[in-house]
Amino acid sequence: MEKFIITGKTALQGKVRISGSKNSAVAVLPAAVLTEDLVFLENLPDITDVRTMIAILEDLGVKIRRRGRNAVELTPGGLSKIAPSYDLVKKMRASYYFMGSLLARFGRAEVPIPGGCDLGPRPIDQHLKGFAALGAKSSIEHGMIKLTADKLIGARIYFDVVSIGATINLMLAAAAAEGRTVLENVAKEPEIVDLANFLNAMGASIRGAGTDVIRIDGAGKFTGARHTVIPDRIEAGTFMLAAAATRGRVVVEDVIPKHLEAITAKLREVGAKVEVEPEMIEVDGEVNLKPSDLKTFPYPGFPTDLQPPGMVLLTAAKGLSVVTENVFDGRYNHVDDLKRMGAQIKVEGRTALIEGGNGLSGAPVSAPDLRSGAALIIAAIMADGISEISSIDHVDRGYEKFEEKLISLGASIKRVNDHEYDRASGEAE
Ligand code: EPU
Repeated sequence: MEKFIITGKTALQGKVRISGSKNSAVAVLPAAVLTEDLVFLENLPDITDVRTMIAILEDLGVKIRRRGRNAVELTPGGLSKIAPSYDLVKKMRASYYFMGSLLARFGRAEVPIPGGCDLGPRPIDQHLKGFAALGAKSSIEHGMIKLTADKLIGARIYFDVVSIGATINLMLAAAAAEGRTVLENVAKEPEIVDLANFLNAMGASIRGAGTDVIRIDGAGKFTGARHTVIPDRIEAGTFMLAAAATRGRVVVEDVIPKHLEAITAKLREVGAKVEVEPEMIEVDGEVNLKPSDLKTFPYPGFPTDLQPPGMVLLTAAKGLSVVTENVFDGRYNHVDDLKRMGAQIKVEGRTALIEGGNGLSGAPVSAPDLRSGAALIIAAIMADGISEISSIDHVDRGYEKFEEKLISLGASIKRVNDHEYDRASGEAE
């Protein structure tokens, strides 16, 4: 296992190029199996989750050709299996998009119940309710979700909760259903729009993505397509929050500023200066930060994925801030370790109270999940002294070249093997 050794008290300075969106890439890749023809995908982030998704496709029988670090050519014509392997699927939650895409292609899918970050309960009732409305039967046997449909038929589906995963799974299945499907109370995230654009390029007819209602006219046949994945707004937001939290000045490049409005607004609220250009945003945190309240909501609200780094930012603002997590029940995995670093935080249910401005001190901590890991890394860059962050495989799942990018902004980070690092001397052996 590897860990990061971070020497803190660095104000991040410079420019950073943002990679393609993880959550778009992991939806677009399984969507490719709707066609038998060649698909070319570019601007894929080179992260573990994308590599796992490609390994699942290869294992199912899709021919894969890597085209450099961030592009891939897929030919799904030879796809024969309808059951992705448990060992691969358990590594990432988005593997459940094969329920929708294999159902669309074969009318059958057998997908192990997925893994992913532990953020509290993550039910899939809305996915199954949607598949049932399209005429699919589902059962859970030996840890597998089995879906079968003689024929998928378009339907009107109203989701009880706004879910990215359920919206994507139903877009995939409905794209191949006979007749019209209307999905109501859907997620409006940019990744949904990106997937709709890709499916439409393959011959689907999807309208309304990015609004509350998506209308899909099922297509009989899908063609090959070429698609460029949108920039990762969560990666961009992580660097923007890190810039302000470390009292630095950072330009994030290759972003779509519209996707980052909630973060830009929150940063301005805490007193940071934010300059927005057509494809870049500069955050200047060389100011006295003010406390603020932060509430997470589905897009266009402040994203739950940026709540952990957002909380770290608030530890730097003198006074009382309140964070309310509205999307997941248990997304405070980072709090105990932040307290270990000296942060004053009290969690009551979905609310966290942060008494900020008291400084952080380096400590040994462990990344509990992807975004909490990113938050702890930012905290370590702010903190006085040395921090060791273990379980960084969580971070590698979702951030491309995270430490390289942070080092280019001035951070002092070393990746070491657990057994190579001698804490007493602070040296890699
Ligand atoms: N929900 C249900 N029933 C369902 C589905 C969802 O009750 O059938 C609930 C969830 O329990 C949660 C809420 O609805 O309280 C929203 O969950 P959603 O389905 O939108 O989440 P997801 O699709 O599982 C995606 C991202 C997450 C991100 C969430 C929320 C991907 C691959 N994952 O998960 O990303 O936190 O949306 O924005 O797109 C990450 O990137 O670190 C990450 C965890």
